[in-house]
Amino acid sequence: MRHLFRVSLAALVVAAACGGGGDQAAADAAAAAPAASVDPATLDPKTITPQELALGDSLFHGLIGATSCQACHGPDAKGGTVAPNLTDAEWLHSDGSYGAIYHQIETGVPQPKQYLGVMPPFGGAPLTPEKHRAVAAYVYSLSHPVGK
Ligand code: HEC
Repeated sequence: MRHLFRVSLAALVVAAACGGGGDQAAADAAAAAPAASVDPATLDPKTITPQELALGDSLFHGLIGATSCQACHGPDAKGGTVAPNLTDAEWLHSDGSYGAIYHQIETGVPQPKQYLGVMPPFGGAPLTPEKHRAVAAYVYSLSHPVGK
């Protein structure tokens, strides 16, 4: 799934770069391809909505979709024996910004710093860009005031 997504993203980039087909061809390619994953650097916490946080909460707790972050990070996200606390100001792998968390979820943690096991990309099952963003927003909100 993730592989397919990358391929179609590449096709989109090629279609856009060629340009010869005109705007319509690029628009068709954009319509056919899934929404492109967001550049983490452009993610602004001010854009996080209550709906996104609710979706992220459900995803984190495995209520929808195949990924359950709480399985490793705990229902309160305060960590446990296999994964770290996500609610404090201490970050092992990044500065804990919204964009950094978003990026971290995509890469997972192939080389853990404190725990024995790895985190697979997306916690195990691929997420759509919308869900990816929502769960990142939710995790970000656990340690930062959001929407206030
Ligand atoms: C299979 C267990 C597992 C699952 C499932 C999992 N994680 Fe992790 N996560 C880890 C481990 C292990 C680390 C890194 C610990 C270390 O470096 O020692 C980690 C690290 C992180 C970090 C970086 C923390 C830091 O201090 O920099 C974030 C953010 C994170 N996980 C979010 C998530 C989210 C969101 C999900 C669900 C989409 C998720 N994780 C699912 C095991 C897991």
